[in-house]
Amino acid sequence: MLAKINGINLAYTDQGRGMPVVLLHAFPQSRDMWAPQVEALSKTHRIIAPDFRGFGESDAPLWHYTLDQFADDVAGLLDHLSITQAVFAGLSMGGYTLFAFYRKHAARVKGLVLADTRAQPDTEEGRAGRFAMAQTAYTKGAGAIAEIMLPKLLSPVALQTKSELVQQVRAAIEQTQISGIAGALMAMAERPDSVTLLAQIACPTLVITGELDGPTPPADGRLMAERIPGARLEIIPQAGHLSNLEQPEVFTQALQSFLKSL
Ligand code: MLT
Repeated sequence: MLAKINGINLAYTDQGRGMPVVLLHAFPQSRDMWAPQVEALSKTHRIIAPDFRGFGESDAPLWHYTLDQFADDVAGLLDHLSITQAVFAGLSMGGYTLFAFYRKHAARVKGLVLADTRAQPDTEEGRAGRFAMAQTAYTKGAGAIAEIMLPKLLSPVALQTKSELVQQVRAAIEQTQISGIAGALMAMAERPDSVTLLAQIACPTLVITGELDGPTPPADGRLMAERIPGARLEIIPQAGHLSNLEQPEVFTQALQSFLKSL
């Protein structure tokens, strides 16, 4: 499905009926990464999964992106669908976007799932790495970004044994436009510190982290779970950064039991 939101075409999945659940994807992936969760959860819930601007089938305008803009795109999509409140799950960049969304639209958030993400901003070194990656994307293309990102997104075991999954994650990266990659890198590099926001999060929250997550390790998940009042923490064994794809059943079960508790 496509909707004109904030001047661009935003692609999204809208499947199932019931309490709306919004799924926000990682960098540099697309809403396709939520396929196992869309299939399972849409039996009981209305699942909305957008492609962020710059990714999947959404437009990828050549300009500076911000996470506030991503959050505004999500809010605009929900307005378009006449959804006032939902449960939101974001993985990594999707989680960064949820912090921006919560700052602006806390009343719309019935529950939060922060998966394989972190509240801290980039370090100086991290920002320099984003700049270098944008230059690589520009000079060498998305294939070079796949080479850099695959060992970050998937655990060593998955890289060696799950060839279909590796191919799927690689293809999503290779299909991403350079404007989207560079725009999102700028957005992530400039994201503010959300650690002080954690104590103000007042809705039920589930934090999920893959045990083997390199970019946002379990310590980042623990920090969020300790500071968000009443938050639950689920560490998924034998899962890397894209924990929802490496251990889809366990991830989905964690979501399902959180949704039931609301
Ligand atoms: C992601 O999975 O969204 C990225 O790894 C996040 C990041 O680069 O900080």
